[in-house]
Amino acid sequence: MFQKPPPKPVSITLKTPAEIEKMRVAGYLAAEVLDMIGPYVQEGVTTEELDRICHDYMVNVQQVIPAPLHYRGFPKSICTSVNHVICHGIPGPKKLKKGDILNIDITVIKDGYHGDTSRMFAVGTPPIAAQRVSRIAYECLCIGIDVVRPGRSLGDIGYAIQKHAESQHCSVVREYCGHGIGREFHEDPQVLHYGKPGDGLLLVPGLTFTIEPMINAGKRHVKLLPDGWTVVTKDHSPSAQWEHTILVTKTGYEILTLPPGRTL
Ligand code: MF3
Ligand code: CO
Ligand code: CO
Repeated sequence: MFQKPPPKPVSITLKTPAEIEKMRVAGYLAAEVLDMIGPYVQEGVTTEELDRICHDYMVNVQQVIPAPLHYRGFPKSICTSVNHVICHGIPGPKKLKKGDILNIDITVIKDGYHGDTSRMFAVGTPPIAAQRVSRIAYECLCIGIDVVRPGRSLGDIGYAIQKHAESQHCSVVREYCGHGIGREFHEDPQVLHYGKPGDGLLLVPGLTFTIEPMINAGKRHVKLLPDGWTVVTKDHSPSAQWEHTILVTKTGYEILTLPPGRTL
């Protein structure tokens, strides 16, 4: 007989107004890195060059800590996930080429608090399937965020995302999820991008977590490469992801990684 390991209790910390202010700063700085790096995403640039530019900007200009660097042994300061890479791509010497899509995922630590956000970028005009999955992943993020308000549940978010992705004949990755965030990079709760209405934790003001749906143009199944980090689609179909850090407010949500005055 196998014995199921005892479930780990979920420990959620609600942020105080002072902590929320620090998370706003961290979130804004993470978004600013994405704004900064956009113009460098060009044919011929390597992902390790993008990593270096972001690293130097974070450390020297923003004076933040790039959270991925040495996190559980991750060797670089950002994640770069190209084409059929779903997430956690390690920046390397490969040059970007015309038609590539890539996710750049930035997490900074400022004054002890994390801000985590990612976007898709394109080099030239990608194949239609790649363009489409990037757009649908963005729509999934927006639809998921729009569910957020006190009284809704995590399952409501996952359900809304899954419903949209599958209605567009895309699939939702199940092995990786969003997460609580604050003093720690990855806190409770886990935020699944699939699920059933009413399931899971009820949202309350002061909760901070990410929504970061990974959407595949083909089947949902994943494969971990031997480097121990890079996650790819098993069927090599293109994959896309967008991420924001969200605060649950009394009436709904605040997107902590949206620069002031910017809309979704
Ligand atoms: N930023 C990723 C996330 O959204 C996590 C990257 S972990 C790393 O949760 F070690 F690969 F950087
Ligand atoms: Co995240
Ligand atoms: Co991230």
